[in-house]
Amino acid sequence: MNMGKNLTKSIPLIAGNWKMNMLSAGAKQLAGAVVKGAERLHSEIVLCPPSPLLGEVRTCLEHSKVALGAQDCHFQNEGAFTGDTSPALLKDIGCTYTIVGHSERRAYHQEDDTLIAKKAAAAHAVGLSTILCIGETEKERSDGKTLHVIASQLEKAIPASTTVKNCVLAYEPVWAIGTGKVAGIADIAEVHAFIAAKLPRLSGIRILYGGSVKAANAKEILATPHVNGVLVGGASLKAEEFLGIAEAAE
Ligand code: PGA
Repeated sequence: MNMGKNLTKSIPLIAGNWKMNMLSAGAKQLAGAVVKGAERLHSEIVLCPPSPLLGEVRTCLEHSKVALGAQDCHFQNEGAFTGDTSPALLKDIGCTYTIVGHSERRAYHQEDDTLIAKKAAAAHAVGLSTILCIGETEKERSDGKTLHVIASQLEKAIPASTTVKNCVLAYEPVWAIGTGKVAGIADIAEVHAFIAAKLPRLSGIRILYGGSVKAANAKEILATPHVNGVLVGGASLKAEEFLGIAEAAE
């Protein structure tokens, strides 16, 4: 781990996105095992369970160093929005993070960068930190448009409320999510350096990589310049595997 001057900025963030998985008993078991394993680790760790499990998981995380995050939020704090969850409620029940702009929200709920910016601003306004996801599709990459797409997402999805402290970016190539196809280290390095260079106002912002991260490939990914942590889906559902990823950041 980088023990240099900018220690706070460079503490890796290891985030587990459980997506629409887990029932309450399994969630308690998994969160409990992560809490135990995290005691000896130095990274920042956050678990993002499905909304109905947030309260239960929060209880498991009490007095631990593992933080609680949501997978999404609305851009309003209250109102007639059936099925949605407000940032104010997430904050109230103990979340410190929320993911916004995940590619599955973009693909299955037609979320665009403008909406994502509104959600992120609403989260920041109540004191939540955001894990703001960006990334290109397979077609965009094969058409040579990766950096163009990333630049456009950075420009439109990051609200003015964003600071180095209240936001972490997650570069997740859509074609690498849940597919077992990890982006090449050179590609990860290129995109992360590009993102860092594009955001002079947010110099030092942490940039996570996400997409088929597992214990076996985490060390190499986490050692890549400008990679300050990982956002983990499938591999976060098994305590041993997720803790193996966090170990790789030590
Ligand atoms: P994956 O998902 O690790 O299962 O590829 C990552 C994510 O969607 O955040």
